Amino acid sequence: MKKVAFIGVGNMGGALLRAACKALGPGEVVCSNRTFSKAQALAAETGCTACQTNLEAATAAQYLFLCVKPKQIKALLAELSPALPGKVVVSVAAGITLDDLQTWAGPDVPVLRIMPNTPCAIGKGMTALCGGASAKEEHFTDIEAILAASGLVERIEEGQMDAFSAVAGCGPAFIYPYIEALADGGVAAGLPRKQAMTYAAQMTLGAAAMVLETGEHPGALKDAVCSPGGSTIEGVAQLERHGLRAAAIDAVLAAWKKNGSLGK
Ligand SMILES: NC(=O)c1ccc[n+]([C@@H]2O[C@H](COP(=O)([O-])OP(=O)(O)OC[C@H]3O[C@@H](n4cnc5c(N)ncnc54)[C@H](OP(=O)(O)O)[C@@H]3O)[C@@H](O)[C@H]2O)c1
Repeated sequence: MKKVAFIGVGNMGGALLRAACKALGPGEVVCSNRTFSKAQALAAETGCTACQTNLEAATAAQYLFLCVKPKQIKALLAELSPALPGKVVVSVAAGITLDDLQTWAGPDVPVLRIMPNTPCAIGKGMTALCGGASAKEEHFTDIEAILAASGLVERIEEGQMDAFSAVAGCGPAFIYPYIEALADGGVAAGLPRKQAMTYAAQMTLGAAAMVLETGEHPGALKDAVCSPGGSTIEGVAQLERHGLRAAAIDAVLAAWKKNGSLGK
């Protein structure tokens, strides 16, 4: 019996599969996908095993990571039902609750949810993990081990999952346009595009690491960059004038509301 099956290997399933192959070795990983060639390509890249059918993948492994779209989860669990006894179901689907999963998988199958993000593919992910009454401590620790090479994994209450997802799951798409826009500013100020992009991205990485590693409030870190009457505070004033904070808050709230409606 292999440790883990990834069913659906698109953006998210593929990212998690790569991380699991690093943490466990590809010999412990199988996958399946509606378009089989995608599973085959990942198997060729990582050394894991591609299965022709979802049922074959689910039969071969203990932990079944369901990485299809939220609306497809119910039908997928029905398809996998012959293989479910003795297995652990782990859903990545935004908006699909533990109650939904328990109902669709059956009362005896442990069910858990994770909410990862695409930086998991390079070991810099942020993933939340929660489990239903059927989930035991060993399931949490096994999933943490499967995802160990993906970045940070944190256990949270299910009630926080949609909000977490809005910040950390959707968040990369809120940051990429910002990095691109900073680089655009650099290009407008005369920098070559490639360098401007590198400077903007490395600066973003460094600023995020400052928040995490110093534990300082971002406001205090911002204050430390702004000398009185200097150029940085001029730029900060422009961001405030154009509503950067309000735009970021509204982006997270819009994604949170949408998350809540996804499984319905
Ligand atoms: N993207 C993110 O950052 C992110 C973050 C957190 C959670 N999630 C969750 O991750 C899940 C997948 O999202 P995604 O962005 O990875 O979507 P995606 O790139 O479209 O991947 C979905 C994959 O599922 C496959 N698939 C569809 N129906 C299938 C079936 N019946 N059996 C097997 N495979 C099937 C698709 O195959 P084809 O190749 O045939 O299309 C595709 O490869 C969603 O539930 C989403 O809520 C995503």
